[in-house]
Amino acid sequence: AAILPESYTIRPMRKSDYSRGFLDCLRVLTTVGDISEAAWNERYEWMNTQGKGGYYLLVIDDGARVVGTGALIVERKFIHNLGLVGHIEDIAVAKDQQGKKLGLKIIQALDFIAEKVGCYKSILDCSEANEGFYVKCGFKRAGLEMAHYY
Ligand code: ACO
Repeated sequence: AAILPESYTIRPMRKSDYSRGFLDCLRVLTTVGDISEAAWNERYEWMNTQGKGGYYLLVIDDGARVVGTGALIVERKFIHNLGLVGHIEDIAVAKDQQGKKLGLKIIQALDFIAEKVGCYKSILDCSEANEGFYVKCGFKRAGLEMAHYY
């Protein structure tokens, strides 16, 4: 497994990460928008209560701020004997921290959780530009993504 630099920790995301740069970390991925602390709190509560534990958000903290994040969403199915599928989403490592194996560490940790909670597989969507990263994380190309934007 990848080793974190000294003083870095990987841990579950907390409500207080709002003021530790969590959303700024996500901005390397895509548009985040201007999210108030009240709106953040509401979404956080939803993920932890209505979601009944199906959301696992992790962060890497360098001791001062969030420098990496990733999520696992556990989907409950009827098929495959009430099977569970892990969806890996929103992987982001701060620009100045890329290339230090933080992304790999996040994927390994999410994979560990997925296997432990009983998922039979984990899947994700990514761009062609990121395929090599996920191959290094042990994933392989399977299927094709389709989208319908509203
Ligand atoms: N293509 C090919 N190989 C790559 C790429 C890439 N784009 N990125 C990293 N790698 C390789 C590294 O060289 C390393 O290989 P090595 O073990 O031979 O040295 C290995 O993959 C692990 O790399 P990390 O250092 O762990 O990668 P990093 O911490 O930089 O994180 C990430 C990679 C998450 C893609 C980061 O660059 C990032 O945040 N990019 C912007 C946001 C983004 O595109 N996120 C993914 C969206 S897809 C999704 O969320 C499901």
